[in-house]
Order: sequence, then structure tokens, then C-alpha cells
Amino acid sequence: MTTADSPEMPRVSGRISRDELDAVLSVVNTDADELMHAQPSTVATAFTWNYEKGVRPKLAKLYEKAKRSQWNAETDLPWGTEVDQEKVVMDNAARTGGFLSGGLDLSGTPLASWGEKEFIRFGIESQNWTLSQFLHGEQGALICTARIVESVPWIDAKYYAATQVMDEARHAEVFAKYLDEKLSGHYPINVHLRLLLDDILSDARWDMTYLGMQIMVEGLALAAFGFLHQMTTEPLLKQLLRYVMADEARHVAFGVISLQEYYQGLTSAELHERQEFAYEAAVRMRDRFLQQEVWERMGVSAKETASIFMQDLPDRAMFQSLLFSKIVPNCKKLGLLDAADGWLRERFTDLGVIQFEDWVDPTSEEGLDAPSAAPA
Ligand SMILES: [Fe+2]
Ligand SMILES: [Fe+2]
Repeated sequence: MTTADSPEMPRVSGRISRDELDAVLSVVNTDADELMHAQPSTVATAFTWNYEKGVRPKLAKLYEKAKRSQWNAETDLPWGTEVDQEKVVMDNAARTGGFLSGGLDLSGTPLASWGEKEFIRFGIESQNWTLSQFLHGEQGALICTARIVESVPWIDAKYYAATQVMDEARHAEVFAKYLDEKLSGHYPINVHLRLLLDDILSDARWDMTYLGMQIMVEGLALAAFGFLHQMTTEPLLKQLLRYVMADEARHVAFGVISLQEYYQGLTSAELHERQEFAYEAAVRMRDRFLQQEVWERMGVSAKETASIFMQDLPDRAMFQSLLFSKIVPNCKKLGLLDAADGWLRERFTDLGVIQFEDWVDPTSEEGLDAPSAAPA
């Protein structure tokens, strides 16, 4: 796993302005109790009668690797491990020098009167929230990948995507089991994550499913899983994340390989639409990390604690760095940074993440840097 503080890793400030913060917090989940969520779409189902395998050798290779890399969520993980959530919170506080990332100025916020008991409860709720969002994101990946099986026109991609459907089912299964058996409560999907999944699934163009899920959501998920894998002292979660991350690295590679080829045939105007989509997804993903639902469950208004998010913290900056460390280089590999007069390069510069454009991820799948397979 890449270490968060390796010398090559660029840093960003991760600051969010007061206006941005107010806008984020004004969007609330009005369907928190719904059990089903329907998202209409007009996607065209694509059959192909060209069954020639290996026309896209990189996809064929990834498919073979995926078949060899399957694991069983029930039998390959040590589910008998006892998980002590309070100990995980205390270990994290000891590592960071205090609760809530340490070093925060809490004066003037409702947290100023909190004692150890409240901070421990907040830490436990934060674990429940984070794992719940991972679970919901995995279901989003399951559905998006099934969509790709249906809509992508290439047989090698359909075959590979079918293995990813199985991977994502397994990921949802492990996070649901971990939440049910080891943690102490679920959270509904974060409204910003749900809006992002709705955006991705309501777009009828097959490549947008890839861009939204494989490049943006999975690029961020891989980074977030890596961060948690590195930080947690809980052995079952560490092992679970290692298994999931091995699968996710293939998923991101699937997106890059497929879109590199497809984007070569798009016009500048068409590429600009992809740039806007990628940027909007990046902003939505940043917004979900405010954990507003946790504050609400703690009886504190997220707006009242807003000043905490505006402080420039080393840990927050590191986390923000990791979030974009895989997305920006992959957008560059797809030609999205510099298309349309560098529109996305400018936006990522404003977000403070452009310095990742040449970041080489040692955990990425092999062969990504070579030219993509020729179109059939
Ligand atoms: Fe996944
Ligand atoms: Fe995935």
C-alpha cells in the first residue's frame, strides 16, 4: 500500500470555503427511511455478435486475472475476530494526539463542552457511518457494473465486467456483514453520494457509467480504502480492506483501458462534456466527507460545527490528498485534463489537486502506461 506520507506524495490544503460549506450542508436527505430507490434511465442495451475473444488484449488479460483472483467472503476472512470499537477509537486518538484528529480549536462550537465519553461515541458513530457509506457505494458499483455488461459494445469488456459484478456483490456482502456483526449501527446513504450515483445512472451514454464509477468513484474508493487500511488497528477490517483493494485496482484499470480507446475517437466538444461530468463528480465526492449525518445523530447541528471543517489540518490535508491521488492521473491518461483548452486542468488547479497529475501509483494494475489496444 502506498504510504500517505511517502516523499513523492504532493500535499493539498483541503480547505473548503464558508459559502461552499453552507451549500453542501443545505442539501439534506429527505428520503432517509426509504427502503427502495428507483432511478429511471433510457440506456440502450447492446448485443454484439462479434464473439472474437482477445481483440482487446489488455481487457482479455484483466479478465483472466479476475477469474484467478476470486475469493470467498464467508470463508477467506477471520470472522471470529472480536472487534472492540472503543479500542479502535482510542488507538486512533493515541496515534493522532487526541480525539477528532487532534490539534483542533473547538472553541465557540458545541464540541467545546464535550468530554471523553462524547468523543468516543462520536468516533464509534463515525466508524458506523464510514462503513455504511462504503456499503452503499459498493451497491452502486454492483449496479453500475451490471449496467456496463448490458451497454458496452465490446465482448472483451462484457466478459471482464461480468467478473466485476461478482466482485462488487462480494464487497457489498463483506461490508454488510462487518456492519451487522462487528459494528453498532447503520446509516442511510449520504445524500451527496446518492446524488452522484443518480447522476451516473441517469446518463444514457455507456462511457459515462465507466467515467463516473470506474474512474471517479472507484478511484476515490481505492484511495479511501487505502487510507483506512493504513490507519486502522483492527485486524479483521485491515484484512478485509486488503482483499477489497486488490479487486478495486483491477476495476480502476478496466475503466482506464476502456476509455483510453473510446476517447481517442471523440471530438473536443464531446470530451468537454466528459470533463464537466468528471469535475461535478469530484465536487460531490469531496462534499460527502463532511459526515453531516454523524453530527446530527450526536445531537449537534452540522452548521454549528462548520468552523471545524474550515480549519487547515494536516490529517485532513493528507486525506484530501489521497482522495484525488488516483483520480487526477487517470483523468490525464484519458486525455481529459488538457482537452477543450485545458478546462479540467484549470478546475483541478482551483481544487488544489492538479499536482497529482503525474503521481505514479505503485499499487495500480500492470500495463496501464502502455498504449491502449487498437480499436477493432
Ligand atoms: Fe467494490
Ligand atoms: Fe469496484
